[in-house]
Amino acid sequence: MRLTQQIPANASEKSIAFRVNGRSVSVASSPWQRLSRVLREDLGLTGTKVGCDAGDCGACTVLLDGDPVCACLVAAGQVEGCEVTTVEGLAARISSSGDFVGRRLQESFLVHGAAQCGACTPGMLVAATALLEQNSSPCESDVMDAIGGVLCRCTGYRKIIAAILDAGTIDAGVGNPGRNGNSGHKSTHPLERTASPNAGAAVGNRLVRLDGQRKVDGSECFGADETPAEALAVRAIRSPYHRARFRFSDLSAFVRDHPGIEAVFTAKDVPGKNCYGVIGKFADQPVFAENETRHRGEAVAVVVGAAAVVESLEVADFPVTWEELPAIHDIDTALGAGAQLIHDHRPENILVRGRVVRGDVDAAMAAANVVAEGEYETGFVEHAYIEPEAGFARRVGDQIEVQACTQSPYMDRSDIAAILGIAPEQVRIIPTAVGGGFGSKLDLSVQPFLAIAAWHLGKPVRMVYSRTESIVSTTKRHPARMRLRGGCTKDGKLIALDFAADFNTGAYSSWGPTVSARVPVHASGPYYVPHYRALTRAIHTNLVPAGAFRGFGVPQAAIAQEQLYDDLAGRAGIDRLEFRILNALDGSTPTVTGQVLGEGVGIRACLEALRPRWKSARSEAAKFNLDTTGPLRRGVGVAGMWYGCGNTSLPNPSTMRIGLKRDGRIALHQGAVDIGQGSNTIVTQICADALGAPIERFDLVSGDTAITPDCGKTSASRQTLVTGKAAQMAGEKLRSAILKLAGACKCGSVVWNDDGITVRDGAESHALTLKDLPLDQHGYVITSEATFDPPTSPLDENGQGSPYSVFGFGAHMAEIEVDTELGTVRVLKVTAAHDVGRAINPTLIEGQIEGGVAQGLGMALMEEFFPGKGENLHDYLIPSAGDIPPVESILIEDPSPIGPFGAKGIGEQAVIPTAPAILNALHDAIGIRLKKTPATPDRVLAAIRSTATHRQTGAPRG
Ligand code: FES
Ligand code: FES
Repeated sequence: MRLTQQIPANASEKSIAFRVNGRSVSVASSPWQRLSRVLREDLGLTGTKVGCDAGDCGACTVLLDGDPVCACLVAAGQVEGCEVTTVEGLAARISSSGDFVGRRLQESFLVHGAAQCGACTPGMLVAATALLEQNSSPCESDVMDAIGGVLCRCTGYRKIIAAILDAGTIDAGVGNPGRNGNSGHKSTHPLERTASPNAGAAVGNRLVRLDGQRKVDGSECFGADETPAEALAVRAIRSPYHRARFRFSDLSAFVRDHPGIEAVFTAKDVPGKNCYGVIGKFADQPVFAENETRHRGEAVAVVVGAAAVVESLEVADFPVTWEELPAIHDIDTALGAGAQLIHDHRPENILVRGRVVRGDVDAAMAAANVVAEGEYETGFVEHAYIEPEAGFARRVGDQIEVQACTQSPYMDRSDIAAILGIAPEQVRIIPTAVGGGFGSKLDLSVQPFLAIAAWHLGKPVRMVYSRTESIVSTTKRHPARMRLRGGCTKDGKLIALDFAADFNTGAYSSWGPTVSARVPVHASGPYYVPHYRALTRAIHTNLVPAGAFRGFGVPQAAIAQEQLYDDLAGRAGIDRLEFRILNALDGSTPTVTGQVLGEGVGIRACLEALRPRWKSARSEAAKFNLDTTGPLRRGVGVAGMWYGCGNTSLPNPSTMRIGLKRDGRIALHQGAVDIGQGSNTIVTQICADALGAPIERFDLVSGDTAITPDCGKTSASRQTLVTGKAAQMAGEKLRSAILKLAGACKCGSVVWNDDGITVRDGAESHALTLKDLPLDQHGYVITSEATFDPPTSPLDENGQGSPYSVFGFGAHMAEIEVDTELGTVRVLKVTAAHDVGRAINPTLIEGQIEGGVAQGLGMALMEEFFPGKGENLHDYLIPSAGDIPPVESILIEDPSPIGPFGAKGIGEQAVIPTAPAILNALHDAIGIRLKKTPATPDRVLAAIRSTATHRQTGAPRG
């Protein structure tokens, strides 16, 4: 396995002179070195990102003499005498030359919410600049072509496309200043941000994300963007086999014989426990395998030394001998009699089971007028965030500091402490910006390797995963095999659902227990099902661990349940949308766990919001199918969803601290990691309105375990609800404390002046002179801290109880076109209605929905990872700009009585209904149901042919 870029350590260097962003530079480099590497490492221009080093992702796009190129594919020697422009140069050109294209684009990206995590943003902006310099008024397909080589995993591209179109349109109206010219026009385009909201009016405002500027100017610091001087490089040695026994030869001799290598660390060098895991009682993953590896890509050692030497190391030279062993790849083999146990203490290779049972499902099914059944499979899905895992660590006395991309700093702290055998207080985790996570960066990746190396060597160390390394070693969406049967009355009332699912959880537990617990609670969908049985199992194999991926198994379950409901509706002769409306949960009907939600159940409103478009889309598709004579067929599908926010029946607290400073500013200690979804902005909006302060007063203090309280992990759509609620409570407390400090009554008002605070109490007015007040232990005039833990109850042996305090609801409608000769499916439009309780920031919510739709589309039509094959972004396809249709978002606000200002989560919710809506549209278009998702052209064609054969011969289908 070749895991990193390799330029021979002894490749001769020469001086290469070129211009970057308008200035002349000269670097000593191998002419074969990648330009991306020279820009980032030698010139410190880390705005240019590296997502693949293979020309697949476009994150490294720069302008070379005005043309967009992938800097990872350009050799340094090729740019001798050329002009290179990076994202940093787009900004610099604004002020120095008056060329407004880059600035307009940056502003347009901010206003449109086109940058989420920001990892793709530099590449997008550079590609868009090249377009607008050539074509000041592009159409949508021009834009799609221009950014077609730049992948984005967060946004679903629609806001990026809109941002570029708007920037171009404005330009067309005022004259294009051109690449080098200056029209003299001084920026009055309407993309400028709307005025900042008044105090108390931040919630509901389309506020530009507070961390947006650094995402568009290239200054955002991701995991690989900061390196301490003299940092050594860390590189893992990983198993090339799905299962293997291994033996090291003389590691000391290896170090001795390789100048520049300082150390090799293996399992015996782990000072504490060589075991970690995201759920304590299931922890089973070693930092380094001992004697035997359980999956391909599992680490057995790290090599630490000078970067050039470590990177150029031939893995074959490392003194390890492998003996490949028989491996278990699939669920049936894992469960088979006499199967090798992957973990001795887990009989039958079953990690865990899940169960929710309510009523008498067998009796109800027997009494049903209409019954339908189905069997569905989904495969591994790769997270494919644009930023591979990266970070650095250093030892500071008896403390270790790890700076890395992560979704869960406090969980990392606990695990690193256990691995090093030290107290958690000796570990400081400093999260960087996260270039997409979607669940996988909840698990440790580079952190333990970095911590062990820095701890032993007392020197700073750095590790950056290659794309292949990221894909082979980090978690995936669980493959699922689901069987289900449902029954309804003749007038379409659901009465029974019997659901069983097995999940391939891979070699280690990761989030397998969570998936197994969450799916049975959700497999009914957002409908009243009085008799219900859902049984799940997470099963070990010798494949890459499956973990958390946006939805924790619920997207897989929705693929099965929503196709089954279509079949039931069809058999009952009821319109598919009306069937769902008829059965939608409301505040008084119990869920399958017996929970009666009372308020904030907006599924019926979501489904009803689709009705007008549903009717017109269906008649348009029917007309198209009637009129067309070619191979194209159109169809329309719908699917509903619900998703409980936060942990399932487990404590789930967030603590928020805010401090009033002597200058009247407010420090917001916000420990929730913003992985692009917008928590930095949304939590601030909530806190600002609770406090009644203008948003500009806030200074964000993010994530660092040394300076922010624990806001839990960024997962399960919990940050808006849980951290947002804690922020609301802390804001209200600070407001009360200010009133008290001024001696005002609780009904007094706080006015935030330029030079301080005035408290009004009836006719009286008190100016607070903050600069003269004493500071507390946190260094503030007043510190306010609040903790919120959403109220849930444990589930009993039948899964009955209240697993979540708040659910989000939604429904998607997909309009598609199928080419029955090629088997290709094109999605024409998605209409997405979501009950978000209260839209704290509609732009950011739309961004989540559009990004979720894109990931759902990928899951439905193209994405499947096969361990050992296609471990790159060339073979593993994710949607590009041209794959994503217009998305119409409809925001329903049925407030939660618990959420801050009524808000619910949206992150996971957005992805769940897209794939089943597309698959239902596929059935509507051509009458086939695929047992296995994704619906790739070969599978669609095979199903079409099988159906045709069946019709001709009358033979049963396989
Ligand atoms: S890093 Fe160059 S294309 Fe991906
Ligand atoms: S914003 Fe595009 S990859 Fe995250």
